[in-house]
Amino acid sequence: MAGLDHCHNIADLRRRARRRLPAPLFHYIDGGSDDEWTLRRNSAAFADYQLLPECLRNVADIDLSTRLLGQTLALPFFLAPTGMSRLFHHDRELAVARAAEKFGTLYSLSTLGTTSLEDIASTVSTPKMFQIYILKDRELTREFVERCKAARYEALCLTVDMPMAGNRERDLRTGMVMPPRFRLKSLWSFAAHPAWTMNLLLHPGFQLANVAHRVDALAGGSMGLIDYVNSQFDRTVGWDDVAWLRGLWDGPLVLKGVLSPGNAARARDVGADALMISNHGGRQLDGAPAPVDLIRPMRDAVGDALQLIVDGGIRRGTDVVKSLALGADGCSFGKAYLYGLAAGGQAGVERALSLLSMEVRRTMTLLGCASIGEIGERHIADFRCLNVS
Ligand code: FNR
Repeated sequence: MAGLDHCHNIADLRRRARRRLPAPLFHYIDGGSDDEWTLRRNSAAFADYQLLPECLRNVADIDLSTRLLGQTLALPFFLAPTGMSRLFHHDRELAVARAAEKFGTLYSLSTLGTTSLEDIASTVSTPKMFQIYILKDRELTREFVERCKAARYEALCLTVDMPMAGNRERDLRTGMVMPPRFRLKSLWSFAAHPAWTMNLLLHPGFQLANVAHRVDALAGGSMGLIDYVNSQFDRTVGWDDVAWLRGLWDGPLVLKGVLSPGNAARARDVGADALMISNHGGRQLDGAPAPVDLIRPMRDAVGDALQLIVDGGIRRGTDVVKSLALGADGCSFGKAYLYGLAAGGQAGVERALSLLSMEVRRTMTLLGCASIGEIGERHIADFRCLNVS
Protein backbone atom coordinates (compact mmCIF):
# COMPACT_ATOMS: atom_id res chain seq x y z
CA MET A 1 0.00 0.00 0.00
CA ALA A 2 1.75 3.11 -1.34
CA GLY A 3 0.59 5.57 1.31
CA LEU A 4 2.15 3.55 4.11
CA ASP A 5 5.61 4.03 2.60
CA HIS A 6 5.20 7.70 3.33
CA CYS A 7 4.59 7.02 7.00
CA HIS A 8 8.00 7.48 8.59
CA ASN A 9 6.99 7.27 12.21
CA ILE A 10 4.00 6.47 14.40
CA ALA A 11 2.83 10.08 14.23
CA ASP A 12 2.51 9.72 10.44
CA LEU A 13 0.45 6.54 10.88
CA ARG A 14 -1.75 8.41 13.32
CA ARG A 15 -2.38 11.14 10.74
CA ARG A 16 -3.24 8.55 8.12
CA ALA A 17 -5.58 6.76 10.53
CA ARG A 18 -7.29 10.06 11.23
CA ARG A 19 -7.92 10.62 7.54
CA ARG A 20 -9.30 7.13 7.00
CA LEU A 21 -11.55 6.70 10.02
CA PRO A 22 -14.86 8.39 10.81
CA ALA A 23 -14.15 10.83 13.65
CA PRO A 24 -15.94 8.86 16.41
CA LEU A 25 -13.71 5.85 15.75
CA PHE A 26 -10.47 7.79 15.46
CA HIS A 27 -11.17 9.52 18.77
CA TYR A 28 -12.14 6.23 20.37
CA ILE A 29 -8.58 5.03 19.71
CA ASP A 30 -6.86 8.33 20.33
CA GLY A 31 -8.66 9.68 23.38
CA GLY A 32 -8.29 9.37 27.12
CA SER A 33 -10.37 10.04 30.19
CA ASP A 34 -11.41 13.37 31.73
CA ASP A 35 -8.81 16.07 30.95
CA GLU A 36 -6.47 13.54 29.32
CA TRP A 37 -3.64 14.57 31.64
CA THR A 38 -2.53 10.96 32.05
CA LEU A 39 -2.85 10.31 28.34
CA ARG A 40 -0.47 13.18 27.59
CA ARG A 41 1.84 12.41 30.50
CA ASN A 42 2.32 8.79 29.35
CA SER A 43 4.29 9.94 26.31
CA ALA A 44 5.64 13.22 27.68
CA ALA A 45 7.29 11.49 30.65
CA PHE A 46 9.85 9.85 28.36
CA ALA A 47 11.32 13.30 27.72
CA ASP A 48 12.30 13.48 31.39
CA TYR A 49 15.03 10.92 30.76
CA GLN A 50 18.09 11.16 28.58
CA LEU A 51 20.15 8.42 27.02
CA LEU A 52 23.89 8.21 27.72
CA PRO A 53 25.78 6.56 24.86
CA GLU A 54 28.98 4.60 25.21
CA CYS A 55 31.25 5.06 22.24
CA LEU A 56 33.71 2.80 20.45
CA ARG A 57 31.80 -0.42 21.02
CA ASN A 58 31.29 -3.19 18.54
CA VAL A 59 27.75 -2.66 17.32
CA ALA A 60 28.05 -4.38 13.96
CA ASP A 61 25.32 -6.90 14.83
CA ILE A 62 22.35 -5.82 16.89
CA ASP A 63 20.22 -8.51 18.53
CA LEU A 64 16.75 -7.36 19.56
CA SER A 65 15.61 -10.71 20.93
CA THR A 66 14.51 -11.05 24.52
CA ARG A 67 12.89 -13.51 26.94
CA LEU A 68 9.45 -12.50 28.12
CA LEU A 69 6.82 -14.62 29.86
CA GLY A 70 8.82 -17.77 29.25
CA GLN A 71 9.07 -17.13 25.50
CA THR A 72 11.92 -15.97 23.30
CA LEU A 73 10.63 -13.01 21.30
CA ALA A 74 12.43 -11.43 18.36
CA LEU A 75 11.61 -7.98 19.74
CA PRO A 76 11.63 -6.38 23.20
CA PHE A 77 8.01 -5.29 22.73
CA PHE A 78 4.64 -6.81 21.97
CA LEU A 79 1.07 -5.88 21.15
CA ALA A 80 -1.16 -4.98 24.08
CA PRO A 81 -4.76 -6.23 24.14
CA THR A 82 -7.27 -3.86 22.55
CA GLY A 83 -10.97 -4.53 22.10
CA MET A 84 -13.15 -4.32 19.01
CA SER A 85 -10.54 -4.16 16.27
CA ARG A 86 -13.28 -4.80 13.70
CA LEU A 87 -14.21 -1.14 14.09
CA PHE A 88 -10.90 -0.06 12.61
CA HIS A 89 -10.35 -2.59 9.83
CA HIS A 90 -12.33 -5.51 8.44
CA ASP A 91 -9.38 -7.88 8.96
CA ARG A 92 -9.74 -7.11 12.69
CA GLU A 93 -7.57 -8.97 15.25
CA LEU A 94 -6.40 -11.48 12.64
CA ALA A 95 -4.48 -8.70 10.84
CA VAL A 96 -2.77 -7.73 14.08
CA ALA A 97 -1.94 -11.30 15.09
CA ARG A 98 -0.51 -12.08 11.64
CA ALA A 99 1.70 -9.00 11.81
CA ALA A 100 2.89 -10.04 15.28
CA GLU A 101 3.75 -13.48 13.90
CA LYS A 102 5.68 -11.99 11.01
CA PHE A 103 7.80 -9.99 13.45
CA GLY A 104 8.24 -12.86 15.89
CA THR A 105 6.52 -11.22 18.82
CA LEU A 106 3.66 -11.92 21.18
CA TYR A 107 0.06 -11.05 20.39
CA SER A 108 -2.46 -10.40 23.14
CA LEU A 109 -6.15 -10.79 22.47
CA SER A 110 -8.71 -8.81 24.45
CA THR A 111 -11.76 -10.41 26.03
CA LEU A 112 -13.59 -7.76 24.01
CA GLY A 113 -12.00 -8.83 20.73
CA THR A 114 -14.10 -9.30 17.61
CA THR A 115 -12.30 -12.57 16.84
CA SER A 116 -12.54 -15.69 18.96
CA LEU A 117 -9.51 -16.88 20.86
CA GLU A 118 -9.75 -20.18 18.99
CA ASP A 119 -9.66 -18.45 15.59
CA ILE A 120 -6.52 -16.57 16.59
CA ALA A 121 -4.92 -19.80 17.79
CA SER A 122 -5.68 -21.66 14.58
CA THR A 123 -4.39 -18.78 12.43
CA VAL A 124 -1.03 -17.92 13.99
CA SER A 125 1.68 -19.86 15.78
CA THR A 126 3.27 -16.83 17.42
CA PRO A 127 3.11 -16.74 21.26
CA LYS A 128 -0.35 -15.67 22.43
CA MET A 129 -1.69 -14.12 25.59
CA PHE A 130 -5.36 -13.81 26.42
CA GLN A 131 -6.51 -10.74 28.36
CA ILE A 132 -9.11 -11.72 30.89
CA TYR A 133 -11.35 -9.96 33.40
CA ILE A 134 -12.71 -11.44 36.57
CA LEU A 135 -16.33 -10.90 35.67
CA LYS A 136 -19.47 -11.11 37.77
CA ASP A 137 -20.14 -14.19 35.71
CA ARG A 138 -17.26 -16.18 37.26
CA GLU A 139 -18.26 -19.18 35.17
CA LEU A 140 -17.38 -17.23 32.04
CA THR A 141 -13.98 -16.32 33.49
CA ARG A 142 -13.41 -19.98 34.33
CA GLU A 143 -14.56 -20.96 30.85
CA PHE A 144 -12.00 -18.56 29.30
CA VAL A 145 -9.22 -20.24 31.25
CA GLU A 146 -10.28 -23.67 30.02
CA ARG A 147 -10.54 -22.42 26.43
CA CYS A 148 -7.08 -20.84 26.67
CA LYS A 149 -5.64 -24.13 27.90
CA ALA A 150 -7.33 -26.04 25.07
CA ALA A 151 -6.13 -23.53 22.46
CA ARG A 152 -2.62 -23.54 23.96
CA TYR A 153 -2.28 -19.91 24.89
CA GLU A 154 1.11 -19.23 26.41
CA ALA A 155 0.02 -16.61 28.95
CA LEU A 156 -2.97 -15.04 30.66
CA CYS A 157 -3.22 -11.34 31.44
CA LEU A 158 -5.67 -10.12 34.06
CA THR A 159 -6.71 -6.48 33.67
CA VAL A 160 -7.23 -4.95 37.11
CA ASP A 161 -7.77 -1.26 36.38
CA MET A 162 -11.34 -1.50 35.14
CA PRO A 163 -13.85 -1.76 37.99
CA MET A 164 -15.82 0.59 35.73
CA ALA A 165 -15.16 2.35 32.44
CA GLY A 166 -13.31 5.68 32.54
CA ASN A 167 -15.02 8.92 31.58
CA ARG A 168 -14.09 9.41 27.94
CA GLU A 169 -15.51 12.75 26.99
CA ARG A 170 -14.39 12.66 23.37
CA ASP A 171 -16.72 9.70 22.88
CA LEU A 172 -19.59 11.67 24.38
CA ARG A 173 -18.88 14.58 22.04
CA THR A 174 -18.50 12.50 18.88
CA GLY A 175 -21.56 10.39 19.64
CA MET A 176 -19.52 7.20 19.73
CA VAL A 177 -21.80 4.26 20.40
CA MET A 178 -21.07 0.57 20.20
CA PRO A 179 -21.45 -1.20 17.90
CA PRO A 180 -21.37 1.74 15.46
CA ARG A 181 -24.75 3.02 14.51
CA PHE A 182 -25.59 5.91 12.27
CA ARG A 183 -26.64 8.52 14.80
CA LEU A 184 -27.36 12.06 13.73
CA LYS A 185 -24.34 13.36 15.58
CA SER A 186 -21.90 11.10 13.76
CA LEU A 187 -23.74 10.76 10.45
CA TRP A 188 -21.71 13.41 8.65
CA SER A 189 -18.46 11.84 9.71
CA PHE A 190 -19.51 8.42 8.43
CA ALA A 191 -20.78 9.94 5.17
CA ALA A 192 -17.45 11.71 4.72
CA HIS A 193 -15.62 8.36 4.90
CA PRO A 194 -17.50 6.32 2.30
CA ALA A 195 -14.68 3.77 1.93
CA TRP A 196 -14.88 2.88 5.63
CA THR A 197 -18.67 2.90 5.62
CA MET A 198 -18.92 0.73 2.49
CA ASN A 199 -16.45 -1.61 4.07
CA LEU A 200 -18.59 -1.94 7.16
CA LEU A 201 -21.60 -2.76 5.02
CA LEU A 202 -19.72 -5.20 2.77
CA HIS A 203 -17.91 -6.94 5.61
CA PRO A 204 -20.39 -7.12 8.45
CA GLY A 205 -19.57 -9.31 11.37
CA PHE A 206 -19.09 -7.00 14.30
CA GLN A 207 -19.43 -9.21 17.31
CA LEU A 208 -17.68 -9.68 20.60
CA ALA A 209 -16.72 -13.14 19.51
CA ASN A 210 -15.54 -14.43 22.88
CA VAL A 211 -18.63 -13.58 24.88
CA ALA A 212 -21.46 -13.63 22.33
CA HIS A 213 -22.53 -17.20 23.14
CA ARG A 214 -22.86 -16.30 26.81
CA VAL A 215 -25.16 -13.37 26.15
CA ASP A 216 -27.40 -15.52 24.02
CA ALA A 217 -27.48 -18.25 26.64
CA LEU A 218 -28.06 -15.99 29.63
CA ALA A 219 -30.23 -13.29 28.21
CA GLY A 220 -32.00 -15.07 25.39
CA GLY A 221 -30.45 -12.50 23.04
CA SER A 222 -32.57 -9.73 24.51
CA MET A 223 -29.68 -7.88 26.08
CA GLY A 224 -27.22 -5.96 23.90
CA LEU A 225 -23.70 -7.33 23.90
CA ILE A 226 -22.17 -4.11 25.10
CA ASP A 227 -24.80 -3.77 27.83
CA TYR A 228 -24.03 -7.29 28.89
CA VAL A 229 -20.29 -6.64 29.05
CA ASN A 230 -20.74 -3.38 30.94
CA SER A 231 -22.99 -5.14 33.42
CA GLN A 232 -20.26 -7.72 33.98
CA PHE A 233 -17.55 -5.46 35.46
CA ASP A 234 -17.35 -6.48 39.08
CA ARG A 235 -16.36 -3.84 41.62
CA THR A 236 -15.97 -6.39 44.38
CA VAL A 237 -12.98 -8.15 42.79
CA GLY A 238 -10.07 -8.40 45.25
CA TRP A 239 -6.77 -10.18 45.82
CA ASP A 240 -8.57 -13.40 46.81
CA ASP A 241 -10.06 -13.52 43.35
CA VAL A 242 -6.60 -13.14 41.83
CA ALA A 243 -5.47 -16.06 43.97
CA TRP A 244 -8.51 -18.01 42.69
CA LEU A 245 -7.51 -17.30 39.09
CA ARG A 246 -3.91 -18.23 39.86
CA GLY A 247 -5.17 -21.59 41.05
CA LEU A 248 -6.94 -22.21 37.75
CA TRP A 249 -4.04 -21.33 35.45
CA ASP A 250 -0.58 -22.91 35.56
CA GLY A 251 1.10 -20.78 32.88
CA PRO A 252 2.50 -17.25 33.16
CA LEU A 253 -0.01 -14.89 34.80
CA VAL A 254 0.36 -11.16 34.12
CA LEU A 255 -1.43 -8.44 36.09
CA LYS A 256 -2.18 -5.44 33.89
CA GLY A 257 -2.84 -2.09 35.49
CA VAL A 258 -0.85 -2.33 38.72
CA LEU A 259 0.46 1.15 39.51
CA SER A 260 2.01 1.12 42.96
CA PRO A 261 5.06 -0.60 44.44
CA GLY A 262 2.91 -1.91 47.31
CA ASN A 263 0.47 -3.53 44.91
CA ALA A 264 3.40 -4.92 42.91
CA ALA A 265 4.67 -6.71 46.02
CA ARG A 266 1.15 -8.01 46.65
CA ALA A 267 0.98 -9.31 43.09
CA ARG A 268 4.25 -11.16 43.64
CA ASP A 269 2.92 -12.68 46.86
CA VAL A 270 -0.23 -13.91 45.17
CA GLY A 271 1.83 -15.69 42.53
CA ALA A 272 1.81 -13.39 39.49
CA ASP A 273 4.73 -13.80 37.10
CA ALA A 274 4.76 -10.36 35.51
CA LEU A 275 3.17 -6.93 35.67
CA MET A 276 2.13 -4.64 32.90
CA ILE A 277 2.76 -1.24 34.46
CA SER A 278 -0.20 0.41 32.83
CA ASN A 279 -2.91 3.01 33.24
CA HIS A 280 -4.86 1.59 30.29
CA GLY A 281 -3.29 4.12 27.94
CA GLY A 282 -4.76 7.04 29.90
CA ARG A 283 -8.30 5.76 29.39
CA GLN A 284 -9.17 5.02 33.01
CA LEU A 285 -8.01 7.05 36.05
CA ASP A 286 -6.98 10.52 34.93
CA GLY A 287 -4.19 11.68 37.22
CA ALA A 288 -2.54 8.26 37.34
CA PRO A 289 1.24 8.36 36.82
CA ALA A 290 3.04 7.51 33.61
CA PRO A 291 4.25 3.89 33.52
CA VAL A 292 7.83 4.87 32.70
CA ASP A 293 8.09 6.84 35.96
CA LEU A 294 7.16 3.75 37.98
CA ILE A 295 9.80 1.34 36.70
CA ARG A 296 12.44 2.13 39.31
CA PRO A 297 10.13 2.08 42.37
CA MET A 298 8.43 -1.09 41.14
CA ARG A 299 11.78 -2.79 40.56
CA ASP A 300 12.92 -1.75 44.03
CA ALA A 301 9.74 -3.29 45.46
CA VAL A 302 9.86 -6.68 43.75
CA GLY A 303 13.49 -7.17 42.72
CA ASP A 304 13.77 -9.82 40.03
CA ALA A 305 10.75 -11.80 41.25
CA LEU A 306 8.48 -10.35 38.56
CA GLN A 307 9.00 -9.32 34.98
CA LEU A 308 8.03 -5.69 34.44
CA ILE A 309 6.44 -4.54 31.19
CA VAL A 310 5.98 -0.86 30.46
CA ASP A 311 2.63 -0.27 28.80
CA GLY A 312 1.63 3.26 27.88
CA GLY A 313 2.78 6.19 25.78
CA ILE A 314 5.27 4.31 23.61
CA ARG A 315 5.57 5.96 20.21
CA ARG A 316 9.32 5.75 19.55
CA GLY A 317 12.13 3.23 19.73
CA THR A 318 13.88 5.52 22.19
CA ASP A 319 10.87 5.09 24.53
CA VAL A 320 11.44 1.33 24.48
CA VAL A 321 15.18 1.63 25.10
CA LYS A 322 14.68 4.14 27.93
CA SER A 323 12.24 1.73 29.58
CA LEU A 324 14.73 -1.13 29.34
CA ALA A 325 17.55 1.05 30.70
CA LEU A 326 15.37 1.97 33.69
CA GLY A 327 14.90 -1.71 34.51
CA ALA A 328 11.92 -2.95 32.51
CA ASP A 329 12.02 -6.39 30.86
CA GLY A 330 9.94 -5.33 27.89
CA CYS A 331 7.27 -2.97 26.59
CA SER A 332 3.86 -3.15 25.02
CA PHE A 333 1.65 -0.68 23.22
CA GLY A 334 -1.88 -0.28 21.92
CA LYS A 335 -2.40 2.96 20.02
CA ALA A 336 0.84 2.70 18.04
CA TYR A 337 -0.37 -0.44 16.25
CA LEU A 338 -4.05 0.54 16.13
CA TYR A 339 -3.11 3.64 14.13
CA GLY A 340 -1.35 1.23 11.77
CA LEU A 341 -4.37 -1.08 11.62
CA ALA A 342 -6.67 1.81 10.75
CA ALA A 343 -4.13 3.23 8.29
CA GLY A 344 -3.77 0.01 6.29
CA GLY A 345 -4.85 -3.25 7.91
CA GLN A 346 -2.15 -5.88 8.40
CA ALA A 347 0.31 -3.89 6.24
CA GLY A 348 -0.26 -0.90 8.51
CA VAL A 349 0.41 -2.91 11.67
CA GLU A 350 3.53 -4.30 10.01
CA ARG A 351 4.59 -0.75 9.19
CA ALA A 352 4.22 0.21 12.86
CA LEU A 353 6.25 -2.81 13.97
CA SER A 354 8.89 -2.23 11.32
CA LEU A 355 9.30 1.45 12.23
CA LEU A 356 9.58 0.73 15.94
CA SER A 357 12.00 -2.17 15.34
CA MET A 358 14.21 0.03 13.16
CA GLU A 359 14.12 2.77 15.76
CA VAL A 360 15.09 0.41 18.59
CA ARG A 361 17.89 -1.03 16.47
CA ARG A 362 19.22 2.41 15.57
CA THR A 363 18.97 3.62 19.17
CA MET A 364 20.90 0.58 20.42
CA THR A 365 23.58 1.08 17.76
CA LEU A 366 24.05 4.73 18.67
CA LEU A 367 23.96 3.89 22.39
CA GLY A 368 26.68 1.25 22.04
CA CYS A 369 24.56 -1.81 22.96
CA ALA A 370 24.58 -4.90 20.74
CA SER A 371 21.98 -6.84 22.73
CA ILE A 372 19.02 -6.11 24.99
CA GLY A 373 20.94 -7.52 27.97
CA GLU A 374 23.64 -4.86 27.54
CA ILE A 375 21.18 -2.01 28.10
CA GLY A 376 21.32 -0.85 31.71
CA GLU A 377 21.18 1.92 34.30
CA ARG A 378 24.41 3.46 33.09
CA HIS A 379 22.68 4.35 29.82
CA ILE A 380 20.06 6.60 31.38
CA ALA A 381 19.87 9.74 33.48
CA ASP A 382 17.06 11.92 34.71
CA PHE A 383 16.72 14.98 32.56
CA ARG A 384 17.38 17.46 35.31
CA CYS A 385 20.19 15.67 37.11
CA LEU A 386 22.86 14.37 34.84
CA ASN A 387 24.88 12.20 37.19
CA VAL A 388 27.60 10.67 35.07
CA SER A 389 30.81 8.88 35.93
C1 FNR B 1 -7.22 -0.51 24.94
N1 FNR B 1 -6.70 -1.15 26.07
C2 FNR B 1 -7.31 -2.29 26.54
N2 FNR B 1 -6.80 -2.96 27.62
C3 FNR B 1 -7.37 -4.09 28.06
O1 FNR B 1 -6.87 -4.66 29.04
N3 FNR B 1 -8.47 -4.60 27.45
C4 FNR B 1 -9.05 -4.00 26.38
O2 FNR B 1 -10.04 -4.50 25.83
C5 FNR B 1 -8.47 -2.80 25.91
N4 FNR B 1 -9.02 -2.12 24.85
C6 FNR B 1 -8.40 -1.00 24.33
C7 FNR B 1 -8.93 -0.37 23.22
C8 FNR B 1 -8.29 0.73 22.67
C9 FNR B 1 -8.87 1.39 21.47
C10 FNR B 1 -7.08 1.21 23.25
C11 FNR B 1 -6.34 2.39 22.67
C12 FNR B 1 -6.57 0.60 24.38
C13 FNR B 1 -5.47 -0.66 26.71
C14 FNR B 1 -4.24 -1.28 26.06
O3 FNR B 1 -4.14 -2.64 26.34
C15 FNR B 1 -2.93 -0.62 26.56
O4 FNR B 1 -2.91 -0.68 27.95
C16 FNR B 1 -2.80 0.83 26.12
O5 FNR B 1 -3.19 1.00 24.80
C17 FNR B 1 -1.34 1.28 26.31
O6 FNR B 1 -1.19 2.62 26.01
P1 FNR B 1 -0.77 3.15 24.55
O7 FNR B 1 0.28 2.23 24.00
O8 FNR B 1 -2.02 3.11 23.75
O9 FNR B 1 -0.28 4.52 24.81
